[in-house]
Amino acid sequence: MPTSNEIDCGFEAQDSFDAAIEDHKRIEPRDWMPEGYRKTLVRQIAQHAHSEIIGMQPEGYWITRAPSLRRKAILLAKVQDEAGHGMYLYSAVETLGADRAELTRKLIDGTQKYSSIFNYPALSYADVGVIGWLVDGAAICNQVPLCRSSYGPYARAMIRICKEESFHQRQGYELLMTMMSGTQAQRDMVADATNRWWWPSLMMFGPPDGESPNSAQSMRWGIKRHTNDELRQRFVDMCVPQAEALGVSLPDPDLRWNPERGHYDFGAIDWEEFRQVVAGNGPCNLERLRNRKKAHEEGAWVRDAAMAYEKKRAGAASVATSGPPR
Ligand code: 3HC
Repeated sequence: MPTSNEIDCGFEAQDSFDAAIEDHKRIEPRDWMPEGYRKTLVRQIAQHAHSEIIGMQPEGYWITRAPSLRRKAILLAKVQDEAGHGMYLYSAVETLGADRAELTRKLIDGTQKYSSIFNYPALSYADVGVIGWLVDGAAICNQVPLCRSSYGPYARAMIRICKEESFHQRQGYELLMTMMSGTQAQRDMVADATNRWWWPSLMMFGPPDGESPNSAQSMRWGIKRHTNDELRQRFVDMCVPQAEALGVSLPDPDLRWNPERGHYDFGAIDWEEFRQVVAGNGPCNLERLRNRKKAHEEGAWVRDAAMAYEKKRAGAASVATSGPPR
């Protein structure tokens, strides 16, 4: 069947798309859209979905090593949420005509990206707290504006995801509060984890605005609502008072309030490290993709069984609707 794009690709379609973007209306799957818009969404949403799925790994390691039943239940719920976020996002990207199996293949063979942040190891239980506080905190800063993204299915998925991310951030912060009021060894673990995750968290927002090839067009299309640097600054401004309340130092000697700008100034980010991690040379890239490939291969029988069941159900439904000959 031809898609709505193939049926209606004249100037009128472009005009009504432009008008919808201008009026901050949502674009829905059956609406005509420029091919570049569709491709940009597929790229961003697929990368986002992959990040949620790979993001289960650093903390997943700690589920069987949690210090108490309560901590284990919290962590289990959180990691399960990440799987759910991946599923919402794969569903959203399917509305653009992408094939989920193909996207998974591209993740596993390294032709599609996932967030740099998940290529760092979680070395102690304090990392679970710091990931919640900083990584989920950065995710919230980046993703709340995406609830107003111009593409309907993406924006709606983001609303649910952001509600759950808030719980993730809070559980991390609460764990850190507990550890900071514990022993010196616990406080040292928190300091060590904060030192390791701070700079990679700032890198999550993507390259600086001058080096972000996609931002300008994505903002014109209303896919992104803020630039990478704007969101990074918002994150730093949010974290400094949170670090003070915790009693933790952030590892940046250049971090200070700038009254003229009304923001915190911060030190230079090591963009070469970012480039290396995105290129596949981070501390855990190989392990993350190896684990994902293994899980995918081991899950083949579940997908086969689900497809066989669906085929049988569809067959039964078509017999029921055609009914006996009259
Ligand atoms: N890690 C890996 N690649 C990154 C990256 C990062 N942190 N930041 C940017 N990049 C890539 C981009 O994907 C792009 O690559 P491509 O053109 O080959 O696809 C390239 O670097 C240039 O960056 P741009 O700024 O031009 O790219 P975007 O306009 O797409 O902006 C983004 C990057 C801000 C990450 C944007 O895609 C976005 O907002 N995505 C949605 C949110 C998301 O994917 N978050 C990932 C983390 S998920 C998460 O945190 C889950 C949670 O549970 C913790």
